[in-house]
Amino acid sequence: MADLRVLVEQANAAYYVEDAPTIDDATYDALKAELVALEAEHPHLAEPDSPTDRIGAAPSEAFGKVTHSVRMMSLENAFAASDVTDFVARIRGFLSLPDDAPLVMTAEPKIDGLSLAIRYESGRLVQAATRGDGTTGEDVTANARHIRDLPHRLAGPDVPELLEVRGEVYMTHADFAALNDGAEGRVFANPRNAAGGSLRQLDPAVTARRPLHFFAYGWGALSRPLSDTQSGSVERLAALGLKTNPLMRRCDTVADLLEVWSEIEQRRATLGYDIDGVVYKVDDLALQGRLGFRSTTPRWALAHKFPAQTAWTRLDRIEIQVGRTGALSPVARLTPVTVGGVVVSNATLHNEDYIAGRAADGTEIRDGIDIREGDWVRVYRAGDVIPKIDAVSLERRPADARPYAFPQTCPACGSDALREPGDAVRRCTGGMACPAQAIEKLRHFVSRAAFDIEGLGTRQVEAFYRAGWIAEPADIFDLAARREDLLATEGYGEKSVSALLAAIEARRVIPLDRLIFALGIRHVGEQAARLLARRFHDWPAFVATVDAARVEGSEAWGDLTSIDGVGTVMARSLTTAFAQPSERGAIDRLVAQLTEIQRIEAPQAPDSPIAGLTLVFTGTLEQMSRAEAKVRAEALGAKVSGSVSARTDLVVAGPGAGSKARKAADLGVRVIDEDEWLKIARG
Ligand code: IVH
Repeated sequence: MADLRVLVEQANAAYYVEDAPTIDDATYDALKAELVALEAEHPHLAEPDSPTDRIGAAPSEAFGKVTHSVRMMSLENAFAASDVTDFVARIRGFLSLPDDAPLVMTAEPKIDGLSLAIRYESGRLVQAATRGDGTTGEDVTANARHIRDLPHRLAGPDVPELLEVRGEVYMTHADFAALNDGAEGRVFANPRNAAGGSLRQLDPAVTARRPLHFFAYGWGALSRPLSDTQSGSVERLAALGLKTNPLMRRCDTVADLLEVWSEIEQRRATLGYDIDGVVYKVDDLALQGRLGFRSTTPRWALAHKFPAQTAWTRLDRIEIQVGRTGALSPVARLTPVTVGGVVVSNATLHNEDYIAGRAADGTEIRDGIDIREGDWVRVYRAGDVIPKIDAVSLERRPADARPYAFPQTCPACGSDALREPGDAVRRCTGGMACPAQAIEKLRHFVSRAAFDIEGLGTRQVEAFYRAGWIAEPADIFDLAARREDLLATEGYGEKSVSALLAAIEARRVIPLDRLIFALGIRHVGEQAARLLARRFHDWPAFVATVDAARVEGSEAWGDLTSIDGVGTVMARSLTTAFAQPSERGAIDRLVAQLTEIQRIEAPQAPDSPIAGLTLVFTGTLEQMSRAEAKVRAEALGAKVSGSVSARTDLVVAGPGAGSKARKAADLGVRVIDEDEWLKIARG
């Protein structure tokens, strides 16, 4: 059986990965049939990763969650060649690399699929997880075993103990077309959705019938480095039996990068799979390490996107959607048109100025041409973004087309819709009395990054709101009293109602950052909520500060706005929301339903001599750029400030340090030189 497994695996790799079959189909089928028969006869000898269970493995329950040991990042986007020049200049600046010092970069296609992390232990595929939110993804191991380009066992003599491969799952154009024309009848919008839908199938047998492919371009956790360069590591991945993209190149200059970009763009239509740009990466992994990451993207990589694709179509109607914070957002309903392979029937119109042909600062957009119902418009889409309209045809404008009159009242509740001075957006003043706002708030509340209640999705929330069972988040926790009503609802049975009510009960315990995000306060996103939770640790401290910060310039106001990443706009939005009686009422009623708001601790300060200290850099640093010094100091747990005060703990003074070094001396603050700083920085 072991021999048969190896033979079948080798044949699979030759056929699917190398595109160079080593045996004919009949021989392959016979080997596989023999293995299947033996496994049926001796089930205790069947391996969990046998090539025979690529089809028809047992259906799993809903996907489990996987916490990524190394966060899965996204990429900074660029559209213009000048962005690429800036990117390389920024890297050189950060690393203090002179213009004539070599800096090798790689360039490779940006595959338009979905990212996957696959864990190999002692060379065996043991787990595969989707990106999810970057921190936690879905366990799709059973399905990933059906991806043809993924070996179940790594090849070669030097297989690492642990290797987490990262790359992109995609579907080819040909397979996509066949799937859409096939018996399953399900029509996906594009190959990327088809790949996503196929990978996240509850029944692995369905995944098995969907031809998925994979390109490896990176890694997460590793027992030992693959190489000391990006390109060398990717070569190692290929040697281990993983499929890597053949178009990857090493480049020495920005001109080389742009040339590869043009070459890849020219080949785009004939590749047979979707790509949406070219990714550039610093080749030297030691330099990647020094450059590090911003909150969600590495400093050492850039996605240089291809230009947007466009198409002309008719704008049938303009509709207004009312958002969670009352914003009236106009949406264009279009006669469906294919733009770069995707059917588009809606486009965003931003706000009333945009429709009128004006930008926020009063300057003209589209040469001042307004958008009217019945117009022919040019639609474009770039990457993932919502399609937009960038041109209007005056020649084809119908004679009876009238300028669009933006509503002055909320279409959902009839309340006045007002525009504050300086705000581009008109907002409904109905608050929670407006059904559209209430539903959007509830949808936000149950969303994945907020309360994430199993079985309570946006559709259910909307239905329960319309039935009059829930009007605000706090009411969700009273749904237990609606058991009979729920049982009478279509699609619910004894089991699902019990499961739903249990899931709701479980959420009476919630981490502080999720709670803050769930409140749906304007400008307070997921990242901001995390920063606030880390700073204030518990709910009482957070509320006390927000309440006291109502007086701008107060100490509490200072506490709030001194958080890196919390500006005055966000602080004002928070204090306003908490001071507004109806909104505060809803918040207090929600909190009364909770049994525990879990504390959030600030991330452990690293063990370093400067952890917790406030540093100021002044003068010229000769060995390390200011940018790198700041990032390094922060990684060591210090805070970097621009000016010296009584709160400064340490000043790093390079040559030419002037007033700041003098002020430090006056205040008795410790001053060190660059050499001493480098000793700290390099541990
Ligand atoms: S590198 C830390 N390389 O693009 C850097 N990503 O927009 C991780 N993608 O989440 C990404 N092709 O899913 C990298 N050749 C490539 C890629 C690629 C496609 C995806 C990946 C990532 C997304 C960011």
